[in-house]
Amino acid sequence: MLALRYHSIGNLAGVRLEDIPVPVPAAGEVLVRIRAASLNPVDWKIATGSFRLLVRGGVPRTMGSDFAGDVTAIGSGVTTFARGDRVLGFIDPFRRTGGTFAEFAAVPVNFAHHLPADLGYIDAAALACVGATAVMLCNLGRVGNRSKVLVNGASGGVGHVAVQVARARGAEVTAIASAARHEFIRSLGANSCIDYRTEPMRGWPGGFDAVLDCVPNIPRSVQRHLLGRKGHYVTTVPNAATFMIDPLINRCGGVQRHGVMLRPDTAAMNEVVGYVAQGRLRCAIEREFPLRQARDAIERSRSGRVQGKIVLRVP
Ligand SMILES: NC(=O)c1ccc[n+]([C@@H]2O[C@H](COP(=O)([O-])OP(=O)(O)OC[C@H]3O[C@@H](n4cnc5c(N)ncnc54)[C@H](OP(=O)(O)O)[C@@H]3O)[C@@H](O)[C@H]2O)c1
Repeated sequence: MLALRYHSIGNLAGVRLEDIPVPVPAAGEVLVRIRAASLNPVDWKIATGSFRLLVRGGVPRTMGSDFAGDVTAIGSGVTTFARGDRVLGFIDPFRRTGGTFAEFAAVPVNFAHHLPADLGYIDAAALACVGATAVMLCNLGRVGNRSKVLVNGASGGVGHVAVQVARARGAEVTAIASAARHEFIRSLGANSCIDYRTEPMRGWPGGFDAVLDCVPNIPRSVQRHLLGRKGHYVTTVPNAATFMIDPLINRCGGVQRHGVMLRPDTAAMNEVVGYVAQGRLRCAIEREFPLRQARDAIERSRSGRVQGKIVLRVP
């Protein structure tokens, strides 16, 4: 099968399509014939050497986390999926060397979800990782009916879905994005927009219940300004402080800080897929690329300027 692989971590020069054996699903896994996969910054961040301490399994690695496709084989003990089932999901790119920018991937069953009949492979692949992330952001930020929410990075993959999840929960959303993206974000339901290029952070209004930082770049002092004494700040890029220091500081009251670490979450996936079915959420796809042009797709993702998602079609 074709797979987009690299043999050393540090730069993307060696990333190439290779012909490798189709993986065999282990116990508790399904083999998925990938039909579409979407780009997430973590895919090229791992390849370029970020997160070295978190990455397991060495090289070679096949890039890619998100997928949508068809189950073609099942490992022992699997009872929840059968051959021919359409599925979506993501794999853990830190722990697995076999990613989804390939014709096949072996996937642990808790990372796979049944794909509703009315959701196509391209839309499903775009949604998997950012959909679950957006719900986790909203859960950690306690976003609910009438919450006042600020979404930073609202035009990107995670941000544009977070805007819609928050709105679907009944929140009032202020979106931070460059002016050229405001019409797009308003079309997704944002109540108001602020241009980060012309409005300094300290001039942004306060009084929010939750700040969902998908860039993330909001300093702690500005978090306090935006949230007052009791709000929740949630970042998509947690660090050691997020898990070791912030939980202790949170006990003292004041701004509550949290970080998302993506993991399988059936309830989160059901929530986003449900919103799609109700017509309350759409994953915007900036561009599709065939797997053979994956390197171009990666470069576009690395620009940091994607509006919505980039998706790879796997013929
Ligand atoms: N913890 C987790 O489990 C998890 C899961 C998913 C993603 N992440 C991380 O979350 C981050 C966002 O991911 P993503 O997929 O949304 O990235 P992305 O799609 O590449 O984000 C691109 C968007 O960011 C906007 N942007 C860039 N600089 C900005 C700024 N200073 N202020 C406001 N917006 C800005 C850009 O808008 P303009 O063109 O208008 O600048 C563009 O639309 C990444 O670091 C990713 O690794 C973490």
